[in-house]
Amino acid sequence: MRIDVLTIFPDYLAPLGLSLIGKARGRGLLDVRVHDLREHTTDAHRTVDDTPYGGGPGMVMKPEPWGAALDAVVARGGGAVPRLVVPGPGGMPFTQLLARELAAEPWLVFACGRYEGIDERVIEDAATRMRVSVVSLGDYVLNGGEVAALAMVEAVARLVPGVLGNAESLVEESHVDGLLEYPVYTKPPVWRGLEVPPVLVSGNHAAIREWRHGQRLRRTAARRPDLLHASEALGIEGLGTLVATAGDAAELGTLQRACWVSEAMANDSLDIPSLTESMETVRQGLGEWRTWVVRDSGRLVASVRGRVSPDDPQTWEIGRLMVAPDLQGRGIGRALLDFAEGAAPEGTTTLWLNTGRGSADNLRRYKRAGYRILAGEGRYPGTVDLTKRRRP
Ligand code: ADE
Repeated sequence: MRIDVLTIFPDYLAPLGLSLIGKARGRGLLDVRVHDLREHTTDAHRTVDDTPYGGGPGMVMKPEPWGAALDAVVARGGGAVPRLVVPGPGGMPFTQLLARELAAEPWLVFACGRYEGIDERVIEDAATRMRVSVVSLGDYVLNGGEVAALAMVEAVARLVPGVLGNAESLVEESHVDGLLEYPVYTKPPVWRGLEVPPVLVSGNHAAIREWRHGQRLRRTAARRPDLLHASEALGIEGLGTLVATAGDAAELGTLQRACWVSEAMANDSLDIPSLTESMETVRQGLGEWRTWVVRDSGRLVASVRGRVSPDDPQTWEIGRLMVAPDLQGRGIGRALLDFAEGAAPEGTTTLWLNTGRGSADNLRRYKRAGYRILAGEGRYPGTVDLTKRRRP
Protein backbone atom coordinates (compact mmCIF):
# COMPACT_ATOMS: atom_id res chain seq x y z
CA MET A 1 0.00 0.00 0.00
CA ARG A 2 1.19 3.49 -0.78
CA ILE A 3 0.52 6.44 1.53
CA ASP A 4 1.48 10.05 0.83
CA VAL A 5 1.12 12.72 3.49
CA LEU A 6 1.14 16.42 2.60
CA THR A 7 1.86 18.80 5.48
CA ILE A 8 3.67 21.97 6.45
CA PHE A 9 5.19 20.03 9.39
CA PRO A 10 6.84 16.89 7.94
CA ASP A 11 8.58 16.30 11.30
CA TYR A 12 5.19 15.71 12.89
CA LEU A 13 4.96 12.47 10.93
CA ALA A 14 8.30 11.12 12.19
CA PRO A 15 6.57 8.42 14.34
CA LEU A 16 5.61 6.68 11.10
CA GLY A 17 9.20 5.45 11.06
CA LEU A 18 8.77 3.63 14.38
CA SER A 19 7.35 0.36 15.65
CA LEU A 20 5.20 -1.87 13.44
CA ILE A 21 4.57 0.78 10.77
CA GLY A 22 8.30 1.52 10.54
CA LYS A 23 9.03 -2.21 10.25
CA ALA A 24 6.32 -2.67 7.61
CA ARG A 25 7.93 0.13 5.61
CA GLY A 26 11.28 -1.59 5.95
CA ARG A 27 9.78 -4.83 4.67
CA GLY A 28 8.22 -3.08 1.67
CA LEU A 29 4.61 -3.64 2.79
CA LEU A 30 4.00 0.07 3.12
CA ASP A 31 5.40 2.84 0.96
CA VAL A 32 4.94 5.99 3.08
CA ARG A 33 6.11 9.33 1.70
CA VAL A 34 5.82 12.60 3.59
CA HIS A 35 5.93 15.85 1.59
CA ASP A 36 6.44 19.44 2.67
CA LEU A 37 3.64 21.59 1.27
CA ARG A 38 5.96 24.62 1.30
CA GLU A 39 8.01 22.99 -1.48
CA HIS A 40 5.09 23.97 -3.69
CA THR A 41 4.99 27.68 -2.85
CA THR A 42 6.39 30.23 -5.28
CA ASP A 43 7.09 33.31 -3.13
CA ALA A 44 10.18 34.14 -1.08
CA HIS A 45 8.27 33.71 2.21
CA ARG A 46 6.90 30.31 1.20
CA THR A 47 3.42 31.51 2.11
CA VAL A 48 0.70 28.89 2.54
CA ASP A 49 -2.11 30.96 4.13
CA ASP A 50 -4.12 34.12 3.63
CA THR A 51 -7.10 35.96 5.18
CA PRO A 52 -10.57 34.48 4.72
CA TYR A 53 -13.00 35.94 2.16
CA GLY A 54 -16.08 37.13 4.01
CA GLY A 55 -14.08 38.00 7.09
CA GLY A 56 -13.80 36.10 10.34
CA PRO A 57 -10.99 34.94 12.54
CA GLY A 58 -7.82 33.12 11.55
CA MET A 59 -6.23 32.29 8.25
CA VAL A 60 -7.14 29.94 5.40
CA MET A 61 -4.73 27.73 3.47
CA LYS A 62 -4.21 29.05 -0.05
CA PRO A 63 -5.33 26.82 -2.94
CA GLU A 64 -2.25 27.21 -5.18
CA PRO A 65 0.33 25.28 -3.11
CA TRP A 66 -2.21 22.53 -2.44
CA GLY A 67 -3.15 22.23 -6.11
CA ALA A 68 0.52 22.06 -7.14
CA ALA A 69 1.40 19.57 -4.38
CA LEU A 70 -1.47 17.23 -5.23
CA ASP A 71 -0.70 17.44 -8.95
CA ALA A 72 2.95 16.57 -8.23
CA VAL A 73 2.07 13.55 -6.07
CA VAL A 74 -0.49 12.24 -8.56
CA ALA A 75 1.92 12.78 -11.46
CA ARG A 76 4.34 10.34 -9.81
CA GLY A 77 1.66 7.64 -9.60
CA GLY A 78 2.24 6.13 -13.02
CA GLY A 79 -1.38 6.70 -14.07
CA ALA A 80 -2.88 5.36 -10.84
CA VAL A 81 -5.33 7.57 -8.94
CA PRO A 82 -5.20 7.83 -5.15
CA ARG A 83 -8.03 8.30 -2.67
CA LEU A 84 -7.64 11.64 -0.94
CA VAL A 85 -8.29 11.84 2.80
CA VAL A 86 -8.57 15.32 4.28
CA PRO A 87 -8.56 15.23 8.10
CA GLY A 88 -10.86 17.85 9.58
CA PRO A 89 -13.27 18.28 12.48
CA GLY A 90 -16.08 18.83 9.97
CA GLY A 91 -15.63 15.45 8.31
CA MET A 92 -17.34 12.08 8.52
CA PRO A 93 -16.39 10.15 11.66
CA PHE A 94 -13.36 7.91 11.45
CA THR A 95 -14.48 4.44 12.51
CA GLN A 96 -13.12 0.92 12.33
CA LEU A 97 -15.43 0.37 9.38
CA LEU A 98 -13.86 3.31 7.51
CA ALA A 99 -10.38 2.11 8.51
CA ARG A 100 -11.18 -1.21 6.86
CA GLU A 101 -12.49 0.49 3.76
CA LEU A 102 -9.35 2.62 3.49
CA ALA A 103 -7.12 -0.40 4.10
CA ALA A 104 -8.52 -1.93 0.92
CA GLU A 105 -7.32 1.05 -1.17
CA PRO A 106 -3.98 0.66 -2.93
CA TRP A 107 -3.07 4.32 -2.49
CA LEU A 108 -4.08 7.00 0.01
CA VAL A 109 -3.06 10.65 0.12
CA PHE A 110 -3.57 12.57 3.37
CA ALA A 111 -3.82 16.36 3.06
CA CYS A 112 -3.14 17.86 6.49
CA GLY A 113 -4.64 21.31 6.83
CA ARG A 114 -3.80 23.90 9.49
CA TYR A 115 -5.35 27.20 10.59
CA GLU A 116 -9.06 27.52 9.75
CA GLY A 117 -8.77 24.93 7.01
CA ILE A 118 -7.97 24.57 3.32
CA ASP A 119 -9.65 26.69 0.61
CA GLU A 120 -12.70 24.60 -0.32
CA ARG A 121 -11.87 24.74 -4.03
CA VAL A 122 -8.91 22.42 -3.43
CA ILE A 123 -11.34 19.68 -2.41
CA GLU A 124 -13.73 20.54 -5.24
CA ASP A 125 -10.94 20.40 -7.80
CA ALA A 126 -9.45 17.17 -6.44
CA ALA A 127 -12.91 15.56 -6.48
CA THR A 128 -13.00 15.89 -10.27
CA ARG A 129 -10.03 13.54 -10.47
CA MET A 130 -10.17 11.29 -7.40
CA ARG A 131 -12.35 10.13 -4.54
CA VAL A 132 -12.14 12.62 -1.67
CA SER A 133 -13.19 12.00 1.95
CA VAL A 134 -13.09 14.63 4.67
CA VAL A 135 -12.67 12.65 7.86
CA SER A 136 -12.84 13.65 11.52
CA LEU A 137 -11.13 11.86 14.36
CA GLY A 138 -13.77 12.95 16.85
CA ASP A 139 -15.89 15.80 18.09
CA TYR A 140 -13.08 18.05 19.22
CA VAL A 141 -10.70 20.44 17.48
CA LEU A 142 -7.01 19.73 16.97
CA ASN A 143 -4.49 22.30 15.78
CA GLY A 144 -4.11 20.59 12.43
CA GLY A 145 -4.59 17.39 10.49
CA GLU A 146 -1.21 15.84 11.32
CA VAL A 147 -2.19 14.07 14.56
CA ALA A 148 -5.38 12.85 12.90
CA ALA A 149 -3.41 11.57 9.88
CA LEU A 150 -1.03 9.74 12.22
CA ALA A 151 -3.93 8.06 13.98
CA MET A 152 -5.65 7.15 10.73
CA VAL A 153 -2.49 5.83 9.08
CA GLU A 154 -1.85 3.63 12.11
CA ALA A 155 -5.44 2.31 12.22
CA VAL A 156 -5.41 1.64 8.47
CA ALA A 157 -1.88 0.27 8.10
CA ARG A 158 -2.31 -2.36 10.82
CA LEU A 159 -5.16 -3.84 8.74
CA VAL A 160 -2.91 -4.27 5.71
CA PRO A 161 -2.10 -7.98 5.43
CA GLY A 162 1.31 -8.78 6.91
CA VAL A 163 1.74 -5.58 8.92
CA LEU A 164 0.65 -7.15 12.21
CA GLY A 165 2.53 -10.24 13.29
CA ASN A 166 -0.57 -11.90 14.69
CA ALA A 167 -3.66 -11.51 12.52
CA GLU A 168 -5.77 -13.23 15.20
CA SER A 169 -5.50 -10.13 17.35
CA LEU A 170 -7.41 -8.23 14.68
CA VAL A 171 -10.37 -10.49 15.23
CA GLU A 172 -10.83 -10.07 18.97
CA GLU A 173 -10.63 -6.30 19.07
CA SER A 174 -12.88 -3.54 20.25
CA HIS A 175 -15.13 -2.15 17.52
CA VAL A 176 -14.56 -4.97 15.05
CA ASP A 177 -18.10 -6.21 15.66
CA GLY A 178 -19.56 -3.23 17.47
CA LEU A 179 -18.63 -4.21 21.03
CA LEU A 180 -15.72 -3.07 23.18
CA GLU A 181 -12.97 -5.51 24.06
CA TYR A 182 -13.07 -7.72 27.16
CA PRO A 183 -10.58 -7.03 30.00
CA VAL A 184 -7.24 -8.82 29.77
CA TYR A 185 -4.86 -10.13 32.44
CA THR A 186 -1.37 -11.63 32.59
CA LYS A 187 0.92 -13.00 35.29
CA PRO A 188 1.21 -12.85 38.28
CA PRO A 189 -2.10 -14.52 39.29
CA VAL A 190 -2.41 -12.22 42.34
CA TRP A 191 -1.14 -8.64 42.24
CA ARG A 192 -1.61 -6.15 45.09
CA GLY A 193 -4.22 -8.49 46.49
CA LEU A 194 -6.17 -8.51 43.21
CA GLU A 195 -6.87 -11.90 41.67
CA VAL A 196 -7.23 -12.80 38.02
CA PRO A 197 -10.87 -13.89 37.38
CA PRO A 198 -10.85 -17.65 38.15
CA VAL A 199 -12.62 -18.62 34.91
CA LEU A 200 -9.53 -17.52 32.96
CA VAL A 201 -7.35 -20.10 34.70
CA SER A 202 -10.02 -22.83 34.60
CA GLY A 203 -8.90 -24.24 31.25
CA ASN A 204 -12.58 -24.38 30.19
CA HIS A 205 -12.45 -22.65 26.84
CA ALA A 206 -16.20 -22.57 26.28
CA ALA A 207 -16.66 -20.92 29.69
CA ILE A 208 -13.87 -18.44 28.92
CA ARG A 209 -15.49 -17.51 25.60
CA GLU A 210 -18.83 -16.99 27.31
CA TRP A 211 -17.29 -14.93 30.13
CA ARG A 212 -15.46 -12.73 27.68
CA HIS A 213 -18.59 -12.13 25.60
CA GLY A 214 -20.47 -11.17 28.78
CA GLN A 215 -17.69 -8.79 29.77
CA ARG A 216 -17.79 -7.16 26.36
CA LEU A 217 -21.53 -6.57 26.66
CA ARG A 218 -21.20 -5.25 30.23
CA ARG A 219 -18.31 -2.96 29.38
CA THR A 220 -20.03 -1.64 26.25
CA ALA A 221 -23.21 -0.97 28.24
CA ALA A 222 -21.20 0.95 30.87
CA ARG A 223 -18.88 2.94 28.62
CA ARG A 224 -20.55 3.11 25.23
CA PRO A 225 -24.30 2.51 25.58
CA ASP A 226 -24.73 4.13 22.16
CA LEU A 227 -23.07 1.10 20.59
CA LEU A 228 -25.40 -1.33 22.32
CA HIS A 229 -28.46 0.50 21.14
CA ALA A 230 -28.83 -1.46 17.95
CA SER A 231 -28.53 -4.92 19.43
CA GLU A 232 -30.45 -4.20 22.62
CA ALA A 233 -33.13 -1.76 21.60
CA LEU A 234 -34.07 -3.97 18.70
CA GLY A 235 -35.28 -6.43 21.29
CA ILE A 236 -33.12 -9.41 20.42
CA GLU A 237 -34.28 -11.05 23.67
CA GLY A 238 -37.88 -10.83 22.61
CA LEU A 239 -37.35 -12.40 19.22
CA GLY A 240 -39.54 -15.34 20.15
CA THR A 241 -42.49 -13.06 19.59
CA LEU A 242 -41.23 -12.14 16.15
CA VAL A 243 -41.65 -15.40 14.34
CA ALA A 244 -41.99 -14.54 10.67
CA THR A 245 -45.25 -15.11 8.83
CA ALA A 246 -46.16 -15.22 5.15
CA GLY A 247 -46.79 -11.46 5.37
CA ASP A 248 -43.05 -10.93 5.92
CA ALA A 249 -42.03 -12.69 2.70
CA ALA A 250 -41.73 -9.63 0.46
CA GLU A 251 -39.59 -7.71 2.95
CA LEU A 252 -37.48 -10.79 3.65
CA GLY A 253 -36.88 -11.26 -0.07
CA THR A 254 -35.74 -7.64 -0.40
CA LEU A 255 -33.48 -7.75 2.66
CA GLN A 256 -32.02 -11.02 1.47
CA ARG A 257 -31.02 -9.50 -1.87
CA ALA A 258 -29.51 -6.44 -0.19
CA CYS A 259 -27.50 -8.67 2.13
CA TRP A 260 -26.28 -11.21 -0.37
CA VAL A 261 -24.86 -8.79 -2.95
CA SER A 262 -21.64 -8.72 -0.91
CA GLU A 263 -21.64 -12.53 -0.93
CA ALA A 264 -21.94 -12.51 -4.71
CA MET A 265 -18.91 -10.25 -4.86
CA ALA A 266 -16.91 -12.29 -2.33
CA ASN A 267 -17.62 -15.51 -4.21
CA ASP A 268 -17.56 -14.05 -7.70
CA SER A 269 -20.90 -15.65 -8.49
CA LEU A 270 -24.50 -14.55 -8.86
CA ASP A 271 -25.68 -18.12 -8.66
CA ILE A 272 -26.65 -17.95 -5.00
CA PRO A 273 -30.15 -19.10 -3.96
CA SER A 274 -30.66 -16.17 -1.53
CA LEU A 275 -30.08 -13.75 -4.40
CA THR A 276 -32.08 -15.41 -7.09
CA GLU A 277 -35.00 -17.19 -5.47
CA SER A 278 -38.56 -16.11 -6.25
CA MET A 279 -40.97 -14.66 -3.74
CA GLU A 280 -42.83 -17.97 -3.89
CA THR A 281 -39.67 -19.79 -2.76
CA VAL A 282 -39.12 -17.29 0.06
CA ARG A 283 -42.69 -17.98 1.19
CA GLN A 284 -42.12 -21.71 0.91
CA GLY A 285 -39.00 -21.34 3.08
CA LEU A 286 -41.16 -19.85 5.80
CA GLY A 287 -43.05 -23.13 5.91
CA GLU A 288 -39.96 -25.33 5.97
CA TRP A 289 -37.93 -23.36 8.49
CA ARG A 290 -38.73 -21.47 11.65
CA THR A 291 -37.81 -17.88 10.73
CA TRP A 292 -37.37 -14.98 13.13
CA VAL A 293 -37.34 -11.35 12.12
CA VAL A 294 -36.13 -8.25 13.91
CA ARG A 295 -38.05 -5.06 13.32
CA ASP A 296 -36.89 -1.57 14.20
CA SER A 297 -39.69 1.01 14.12
CA GLY A 298 -41.60 -1.32 11.84
CA ARG A 299 -38.75 -1.87 9.39
CA LEU A 300 -37.54 -5.45 8.95
CA VAL A 301 -33.81 -5.11 9.64
CA ALA A 302 -32.54 -8.59 10.42
CA SER A 303 -33.51 -12.22 10.28
CA VAL A 304 -32.35 -15.77 10.86
CA ARG A 305 -33.93 -19.17 10.47
CA GLY A 306 -33.46 -22.64 11.93
CA ARG A 307 -34.79 -26.16 11.51
CA VAL A 308 -34.11 -29.71 12.56
CA SER A 309 -32.10 -31.30 9.76
CA PRO A 310 -34.28 -33.45 7.51
CA ASP A 311 -31.38 -35.99 7.50
CA ASP A 312 -30.48 -36.06 11.18
CA PRO A 313 -32.81 -35.29 14.10
CA GLN A 314 -29.84 -34.32 16.30
CA THR A 315 -28.61 -31.60 13.95
CA TRP A 316 -30.04 -28.07 14.09
CA GLU A 317 -29.54 -26.15 10.87
CA ILE A 318 -29.20 -22.39 10.99
CA GLY A 319 -29.54 -20.30 7.84
CA ARG A 320 -30.21 -16.95 6.22
CA LEU A 321 -28.54 -14.99 9.01
CA MET A 322 -28.83 -11.42 7.74
CA VAL A 323 -28.61 -7.87 9.02
CA ALA A 324 -29.48 -4.82 6.90
CA PRO A 325 -26.21 -3.44 5.46
CA ASP A 326 -26.60 -0.07 7.23
CA LEU A 327 -26.87 -1.79 10.63
CA GLN A 328 -24.04 -4.26 10.23
CA GLY A 329 -21.01 -4.17 12.54
CA ARG A 330 -23.01 -3.63 15.74
CA GLY A 331 -23.20 -7.16 17.09
CA ILE A 332 -26.75 -7.80 15.85
CA GLY A 333 -25.67 -10.75 13.70
CA ARG A 334 -23.78 -12.31 16.59
CA ALA A 335 -26.76 -11.84 18.91
CA LEU A 336 -29.06 -13.39 16.31
CA LEU A 337 -26.72 -16.33 15.87
CA ASP A 338 -26.70 -16.87 19.65
CA PHE A 339 -30.48 -16.66 19.57
CA ALA A 340 -30.82 -19.19 16.74
CA GLU A 341 -28.46 -21.57 18.54
CA GLY A 342 -30.52 -21.22 21.70
CA ALA A 343 -33.65 -22.13 19.74
CA ALA A 344 -32.29 -25.61 18.93
CA PRO A 345 -34.54 -28.28 20.42
CA GLU A 346 -33.43 -30.48 23.31
CA GLY A 347 -31.40 -33.45 22.12
CA THR A 348 -29.50 -31.38 19.51
CA THR A 349 -25.84 -32.41 19.40
CA THR A 350 -24.71 -30.52 16.30
CA LEU A 351 -25.30 -26.98 15.09
CA TRP A 352 -24.89 -26.65 11.33
CA LEU A 353 -24.61 -23.76 8.95
CA ASN A 354 -23.37 -23.09 5.43
CA THR A 355 -21.67 -20.20 3.68
CA GLY A 356 -19.79 -19.33 0.50
CA ARG A 357 -16.27 -20.69 0.28
CA GLY A 358 -15.07 -17.15 -0.54
CA SER A 359 -17.09 -15.42 2.20
CA ALA A 360 -14.07 -14.51 4.31
CA ASP A 361 -16.01 -12.26 6.71
CA ASN A 362 -18.65 -14.89 7.42
CA LEU A 363 -16.06 -17.63 7.85
CA ARG A 364 -14.16 -15.48 10.32
CA ARG A 365 -17.32 -14.72 12.31
CA TYR A 366 -18.46 -18.33 12.40
CA LYS A 367 -15.03 -19.54 13.46
CA ARG A 368 -15.07 -17.01 16.26
CA ALA A 369 -18.45 -18.33 17.32
CA GLY A 370 -16.89 -21.82 17.63
CA TYR A 371 -17.80 -23.36 14.25
CA ARG A 372 -15.38 -25.52 12.30
CA ILE A 373 -15.35 -26.00 8.53
CA LEU A 374 -16.17 -29.52 7.31
CA ALA A 375 -13.84 -30.89 4.64
CA GLY A 376 -15.10 -31.01 1.08
CA GLU A 377 -17.86 -29.25 -0.84
CA GLY A 378 -20.74 -27.81 1.15
CA ARG A 379 -24.42 -28.49 0.54
CA TYR A 380 -24.51 -26.05 -2.39
CA PRO A 381 -21.87 -25.59 -5.12
CA GLY A 382 -19.10 -23.19 -4.08
CA THR A 383 -20.01 -23.37 -0.39
CA VAL A 384 -18.68 -24.96 2.76
CA ASP A 385 -20.61 -26.47 5.66
CA LEU A 386 -19.65 -25.62 9.22
CA THR A 387 -20.61 -27.35 12.43
CA LYS A 388 -20.30 -26.85 16.16
CA ARG A 389 -20.87 -29.45 18.87
CA ARG A 390 -23.58 -28.77 21.38
CA ARG A 391 -23.97 -30.52 24.69
CA PRO A 392 -27.34 -32.31 24.48
N1 ADE B 1 -8.14 18.68 12.43
C1 ADE B 1 -8.52 19.45 13.45
N2 ADE B 1 -9.38 18.83 14.23
C2 ADE B 1 -9.54 17.59 13.70
C3 ADE B 1 -10.32 16.46 14.06
N3 ADE B 1 -11.12 16.45 15.11
N4 ADE B 1 -10.25 15.38 13.26
C4 ADE B 1 -9.48 15.37 12.18
N5 ADE B 1 -8.71 16.41 11.79
C5 ADE B 1 -8.75 17.51 12.56
